Formats: sequence, C-alpha cells, structure tokens
Amino acid sequence: MHPLQWVLQVQRSLGWGPLASVSWLSLRICRAHSSLSSTTCPSPERQEDGARKDFSSRLATGPTFQHFLRSTSAPQEKLSSEVEDPPPYLMMDELLGRERKVYLETYGCQMNVNDTEIAWSILQKSGYLRTRNLQEADVILLVTCSIREKAEQTIWNRLHQLKALKTRRPRSRVPLRIGILGCMAERLKEEILNREKMVDVLAGPDAYRDLPRLLAVAESGQQAANVLLSLDETYADVMPVQTSPSATSAFVSIMRGCDNMCSYCIVPFTRGRERSRPIASILEEVKKLSEQVIRPPQPPKVLGLQGLKEVTLLGQNVNSFRDNSEVQFNNAVSTNLSRGFTTNYKAKQGGLRFAHLLDQVSRVDPEMRIRFTSPHPKDFPDEVLQLIHERDNICKQIHLPAQSGSSRVLEAMRRGYSREAYVELVHHIKESIPGVSLSSDFIAGFCGETEEDHVQTVSLLREVQYNTGFLFAYSMRQKTRAYHRLKDDVPEEVKLRRLEELITVFREEATKANQMSVGCTQLVLVEGLSKRSATDLCGRNDGNLKVIFPDAEMEDVNNPGLRVRAQPGDYVLVKITSASSQTLRGHVLCRTTLKDSSANC
Ligand code: 5AD
Ligand code: SF4
Repeated sequence: MHPLQWVLQVQRSLGWGPLASVSWLSLRICRAHSSLSSTTCPSPERQEDGARKDFSSRLATGPTFQHFLRSTSAPQEKLSSEVEDPPPYLMMDELLGRERKVYLETYGCQMNVNDTEIAWSILQKSGYLRTRNLQEADVILLVTCSIREKAEQTIWNRLHQLKALKTRRPRSRVPLRIGILGCMAERLKEEILNREKMVDVLAGPDAYRDLPRLLAVAESGQQAANVLLSLDETYADVMPVQTSPSATSAFVSIMRGCDNMCSYCIVPFTRGRERSRPIASILEEVKKLSEQVIRPPQPPKVLGLQGLKEVTLLGQNVNSFRDNSEVQFNNAVSTNLSRGFTTNYKAKQGGLRFAHLLDQVSRVDPEMRIRFTSPHPKDFPDEVLQLIHERDNICKQIHLPAQSGSSRVLEAMRRGYSREAYVELVHHIKESIPGVSLSSDFIAGFCGETEEDHVQTVSLLREVQYNTGFLFAYSMRQKTRAYHRLKDDVPEEVKLRRLEELITVFREEATKANQMSVGCTQLVLVEGLSKRSATDLCGRNDGNLKVIFPDAEMEDVNNPGLRVRAQPGDYVLVKITSASSQTLRGHVLCRTTLKDSSANC
C-alpha cells in the first residue's frame, strides 16, 4: 500500500478528514484519549504540564488541508537558511533548537550516513548543536536500517539501553527526546511508538525537513511522526554537513528510492519511488566539495591545504539516474539497458542519463577521483563503460550485485537477468575496462534455493573472481513479494552453512585477484595513519582496496629534490609487495598528482 494511503486509511478508520501529517495524526489520537480523561497524552515529565496545556489549546486551531498539501510536497527551491514557517499550532521559536544538543547515531548503508548528514544540516540551521557525547545529549536520533531482521534487532536493543538513560535523566535537565529516523520508522510506523513508549519522534527517509516541527511537538510531551514518502524529495538544496572534517572523500547523493521491486527487498517500501536529483545541483555540490579544504594533522610542506580528493555518487540504483527536471531534457537520446537485461517496470523515456552526469562530474576537477555506488547491472550501456575507461579520474571499479549464480533463483528474485546475461556483461566490462576491479552482493538461502542453485553461485564466484564481496544470509521481510508469494524454506543452519561456503570461496578468489597487483606500481590516495600501526599509512587504490605502506620520506614529482612525508589527501605511487583478500601492502615511491601519475597496473 502507498504510505499516503496508509495515512488516509488510518484517518478514515478513525472517522477523520485529511490531516497535516502523521504527527498530527498522533496528536489527534492523544486528543481522542483526552476527551475521556480530559488531559492530553500522559507524559512522565510533569514539569511540562503548563506548556502542554498551552499547547493543547493551540491544538484546537490545528492545521488545515492546505497545510497538509504544503508539508507533503517538500519544496526543492526553498532557501536552506530559512526556518520553516510554523504550523498554526506552534510558535516560531518552538521550531528553533535553542542550542539543545543532538546526538546522531547511524546504522546500515552509506545512504544512511548521507541521510544523517542531511538531517543534521537541517537541524543545525534550526539552531541545534551537535554532540558526540551521549551523556550530554538532549535529543538522540537513530538513523535506522530495515534491510535484514538483524539490523532491526540491533535498534530494538539500542532502544532498551536508551530507555534506561531517559529514565535516569535528572529532573533538573530538559527531558531527553528520542527519535527513530529512516527505514525502520518507515517500515514499522506507529508500531514503534506503541511498542516503545519512550520514542518521541518518528521520521521516514523523506521527512527530514519536518524534523524541527516534529521535535517541537515532542517538546510538549507528545509523540510525533511523519512517515510520508514523496515522489520528488531529493534534498537537492540541503548541502550535507561533512561529519569527518579530516576526510579526503565525500558522498554526494544523486538519486533516491528504487522502482525495481526485487522480490526479497524492503527498500522500495521504505525509501519509496525512484527519483533523481537535478544535475545542476549535483554539480554545484561537487564544485563546493572540490574547493573545500582538508586540514591535515600537520601542515603539508608543499601542496598547501587542498580540496577533497574523492567523490562517491550515491543512490539506491545510482546508474538508473534520469534527470527529468527540465522539459528540454526529455528530448535527450534514450539509452539502452545492458544486453540481455530487462526491467520490472514500464520503460522510462527521456531525461539526462548517468553517462551524461558522470561526464559532467568528472570534468569539475581532474584531481578529484569519482566513484559511484550502488549500481544495478541492468544500467551499464556502452557509453558508461566507455567513459569509465577513458576518463583518468573515474575509478575503474564497478560494483555489480549478482545476488545469485542460478538463473532459476534470479528469476524468483525478479532480478531481470539470467546467469548467462550477467556473465556476458562481466566479460564485456572486463574487455571494455582492462584492469577493472569488480565487487558484488550475494544472498545465501533465498526461498526455494536448492543445493544445486547454491553450487551455481559458488561457481559464479570462481568464474568472476571478484576483488570485494558483500555476502548475506536471506532474511524474509514483510511486505515484499517473496513474503506474499514464496516460502522461506531454507533452514537457518543451511543458510548459514551456505553463507560460510560463499565467504570462503570469495576470500580465496579475492586473494588470487588481488595478488595480480603484486609487483605493480599503483596510485594511492592517502587517508591517514593505519589503524593497526602508528608507523604505517593507509590509503586506497583506484579499485578502492586498502593499501598499507610505511610512513617514509619520498620525493615530490612536482618539486624535484624536495623530500616530503605523505599527508591525507596526497596522491602517492606505491609499489605493491603483498596482497590478501582485503588489503594490499607496499612501499611508497613518490608523491604525485592524478594527472601526472604513471601507475602501471
Ligand atoms: N535478506 C538478505 N539480504 C538482503 N539484501 C537485500 N534484501 C535482503 C534480504 N531480505 C542484500 C542484497 C542487496 C544488499 C544491499 O543487501 O544483496 O544488494
Ligand atoms: Fe532492493 Fe533490488 Fe532496489 Fe537494490 S535494486 S534496492 S536489491 S529492490
């Protein structure tokens, strides 16, 4: 069911008219109770009684249908420095953070890391402060993941710990507010509020702009929620705040949501329909990042402070990008799917596609590496592969989630390709981009997976020889097609045994693939000190593999005769001397630039 339908259905079942948002819905529930008890929702914070009474009287002049429409269509062009106009039941200053301290905790994928930065950017503009100390926090927000049951269980456990923190909070301090953001808020909706009474705020992935209002409502002791999904929200105008100021790389969100409806996956239900961010705003963000300064621990001796050196374009199906934001974009030449691949949805027409975006982004700064994740194998037309091959600063690294090596299972998963089509694509990619580094996702023990299907997945791992892999045991999710139509019939212990086998084979093959780099000279972007040794530095090669090398003096190619030590954000050439399934080791030869580098493999 569409989330909007969900809201309306609950409203109808309660006999109400259209509502402003679910927060309004939860407030109305409180009012319904209050007519019995003549109070608003019970709250443990008695000292807020006055504020709540005042709030309740303002509630009587609650939002109109117009406000509902306004708050769901999230304007893209709004100035980010502006604070939202307050809804009729809140005062302007109640929308402000008034220096309350927010503690943000992120679970799950890179999209959630980016969402955390978006949420923080919005709250910062409303006058909240950020704290990294849980004990200091006035507001704790968990950015959550629903992809597998285990991910959700981690959040429930964390909520139990936070409950203790909330109960122990001295009365002399402002009450602690707890919020659940992201996929779990979207999937479970009011079930979270009912199960965990200590949760004050729920905000789905498209509702972060509403956080100041939701927190303002929560301040009065009410629970507040907005889990409406949007057809156009991309947070295009919200510049995420980089959480780690020393980072050499940044993530730039280019699209949200997913229309693929793979039968095992909850993402289309938690993150909604696929929509792309306008190219102009992506380019603007990449330009800003290229000019953003990294502050290394010690002042670098020659290059001076430098801009960020790596951007990863981010999206649920990053290469399905399609900017339709301007009418003339619809005349663009249409691009094909990868050969032998189909979609679960009706063919989409027009718009500026991923190859165009990649071309534009890679031109912003030739010294900035470009990566992208996570793509779908169906959207690798030749123009994308060609561009990756030709452009020095587009990394020769492709994530190609296969999910299974059995055509039968792939069909049950509704992936839109057979094993043969996938293998053909792999060969085509390897021919088009010599030296390309490949990674993949696999699920062990999907509904109906036989031993023979599993053997086929093992053989695919051997055939492709991925450099990196992400392997998971299947976890049935409610709402998905598999939940409604298939049987989760592979016993847990069999799933885990198959997963172990996949991990072992993947490691053996990745070690072999990575050992091909031994003896090569590779260009490495320095990240900083190695976590395991204070005398080693750590960086990433073009294929995104970790490279460890001793922190030693070296020559700077652009300043002959000068001896330098590598700093975060420097490009260095490293001679690779050994390799494992996850790391390369070597010794540093010189400092260089991406343009001038002479990496030999
Ligand atoms: N169970 C296990 N793994 C899953 N993934 C997605 N849904 C499930 C599920 N229900 C995996 C897929 C996807 C990755 C992000 O998570 O491999 O590519
Ligand atoms: Fe989930 Fe499939 Fe969409 Fe990936 S492409 S997010 S696996 S539905």
